This record gives sequence, C-alpha cells and structure tokens, in this order.
Amino acid sequence: MTDRGAPGPRPYQEGRTLTVVPRLDGIDLSGTVRLHANECVLGPAPGVAEAAAAAAATAHRYADVTCAALRRAIAERHGLDPGRIVCGNGSEELLDLVGRAYARPGDEILFPAHSFIQFAIVAWRMGAAAVEAPLGPGFAVNVDALLDRVGPRTRVLFLANPNNPTGVEVPARDVRRLADALPAHVLLVLDGAYAEFAAPETGQQALALAAERPNVLVTRTFSKAYGMAAMRLGWAFGPAPVIRALDNLRGIGNVGGPAQAAGIAAMAAQGHVARVAAHASAERAWLSARLAAAGFAVIPSAANFVLARLPEGCALSGDAAVRRLAAAGYLVRANADYDLPDWLRITVGHRADMERLADRLAAIAGGGPDGDPGAT
Ligand SMILES: Cc1ncc(COP(=O)(O)O)c(C=O)c1O
Repeated sequence: MTDRGAPGPRPYQEGRTLTVVPRLDGIDLSGTVRLHANECVLGPAPGVAEAAAAAAATAHRYADVTCAALRRAIAERHGLDPGRIVCGNGSEELLDLVGRAYARPGDEILFPAHSFIQFAIVAWRMGAAAVEAPLGPGFAVNVDALLDRVGPRTRVLFLANPNNPTGVEVPARDVRRLADALPAHVLLVLDGAYAEFAAPETGQQALALAAERPNVLVTRTFSKAYGMAAMRLGWAFGPAPVIRALDNLRGIGNVGGPAQAAGIAAMAAQGHVARVAAHASAERAWLSARLAAAGFAVIPSAANFVLARLPEGCALSGDAAVRRLAAAGYLVRANADYDLPDWLRITVGHRADMERLADRLAAIAGGGPDGDPGAT
C-alpha cells in the first residue's frame, strides 16, 4: 500500500485571536451595560428592523447574490459608481478578502502599531508577515515611519481612520501624502469603520482617493454609526480590478436578504446617522473629561469610544479592572491583546450609565472599596 502520509488534516496552528472580554467566567453578564464592543447605543434607525422583518417573510427564497439594490443605495448616497462597490458580511469579511486576494506566504502586510487587531489576523491567516510602523506621541500615525517600512514584499497597507482601539484620526492631508508616496505595488486599504464619527472630509477624501487611484480601497460598515452590528453588513469601494477580485473570492450569498433590506432602509435614514454621530461627539467629550478628572490619561478620540490609561499608582491591570467592572454590571474592553495592558477602551453610551461607570472607575483609580485589588 502506498504511504499517503498521516490521515486527516494537518494540525491547526493557533494564531492571534480576538479576546474582546478577558476571563469573565463565573460573572453573570445578563443585564450588563455593554460598553466594550463599540456598538451604537441609539440602535438602528426607525424602519430598519421592519425592513429586515419584511424580508424575512420570504426567507425560503435566495436573496440577490449581487446586492444590486443595496449597492445602488450606497452609491447614490455617496456619489459612487455602484459597479465599483462590493458588499460583505460585515466589513470584517472584506478585510479578510483583501488578504486572500493579495497576500501570500512571505509577503508583508503593513499597518501602524496598535492598529485594529484584525489586520494582524488577516496577515496570519495568509502566512504573510505583519509589519507594524511605530507611532508618534499620543498614538499619532507617522506617515514617514509607514513609508520607511514599505518594501518589495509589501502587498497591503491597512489604515483604520479613525483607528480602533486608539480612536485617533489621521488628518486628510496626511492620508493624501501617504497615498501620493506609496508605490503602485502596495494596496492602501482605508478602513472607515468609524468614518461617520470623524471629520466629514476624512471620509470624503478616502472615497475620492479610491475613485481616482488604482491602488486605494475603502471599506465601510453598517455596524457602528448605523447601529446594525448584528446584521453583519459592510461594503468596499475601489478600483474595478480590486473590486472584481474581492467579488470573485467572497461567499456567493455572503449577505442575507434581511441584511440587504435593512441596509437599504438605513441608507435612506441619514438623519439617524447624523444624530448618532452628534451623540457620540458630545458624549465622548463628556466621558473624556470625566476620566481625565479621575486621573486617567485619555487619548482624544474621533470615534464612538475612548481609550484611557489607568492612573499611575493604580494597583489593577486593565484585565483586572475589566473583571471588577463586569462584576458590577459594566462591560468595557481590556487591551492586553493590543499590547496596552493598562488601557481601557470604553464605548460611548447613555449618560446615566456612563455616570455610574465613571464613578466606579474613579473608585478603582483611587483604590477605594471598588478598587481594592485583593478582591479580584
Ligand atoms: C477598525 C475596524 N474595522 C472593521 C471592523 C469590523 O466591523 P464589522 O465586521 O462589524 O463591519 C471593526 C469592528 O470593530 C473595526 O473596529
């Protein structure tokens, strides 16, 4: 008998994983205030759930696998060519498709340090090297440091703008300088998951670059400002050959009918998006000031969350603080997986919830009863 080698698949090799909430076993999470996942506390626009429910009534039929009506709705809103849009099962799927289309073992995927963790995961999935460029003070993206690290094996440069978990926005002029200086063999992916919360010209310029350059792609999501995280809906806009590549690689029915209908309804409800963005802007300012007053170092945010470092002398790690807060009914995100073990990322929520959370955080920072590290 011929030796066919070991039976079964090769052993799975663990990669970097998403650890959104660290070790909370044993804590009852029902009814907790969710400020850990950058969800939209104002929910989806009126009419979105109804549109999804109406589409669910024909759940026995396959939905349009090309998402034509949804792409038209997105294109109309942003003044784009619908033929250069591809929809995804969340923008996460689109980032993954970028890796599958353009990265191979030995290639490099470049991004600023402390970028959205999926960029490293995409590289790992493809056997490509994840290359991080150092940041400037205050987690500012350093365009020159990024350009310095571009080499012949660099295939993709991911830039989340604003970035998660830092909340930092890269000014439009810096993004243009990066796009201008980037060699043609590198695809610049401008991840605009939080674009609606930032300066309007940041998002508009990203789309303009993707319209005119052969190597710029924009990804956007319905998960954040549109309040539709569970719908799993995102889209990408860019050069026709890049869109074709992603379109060929995606799952054929990657976006379900209820999600498509919900997306179309949401695009027509721009007043809601504006209200969500205004709420995030006002409330992140309040939360930032409150945390700073309690001794936290706070990074100015252009998104719907705030990144804050536990005060000097606080005996708790970020993970321990997250467990303490979860036991008290508040979920926030620890950031050890982002190499930021003393930092908490807190989503902007309802004021009353944030007031109570801020009191807890102040107690933790001050080493009060809630801050007693012995009780973890
Ligand atoms: C920067 C960034 N990009 C992309 C995503 C993916 O979001 P989704 O797959 O829900 O569209 C997220 C989610 O948190 C994010 O923070």
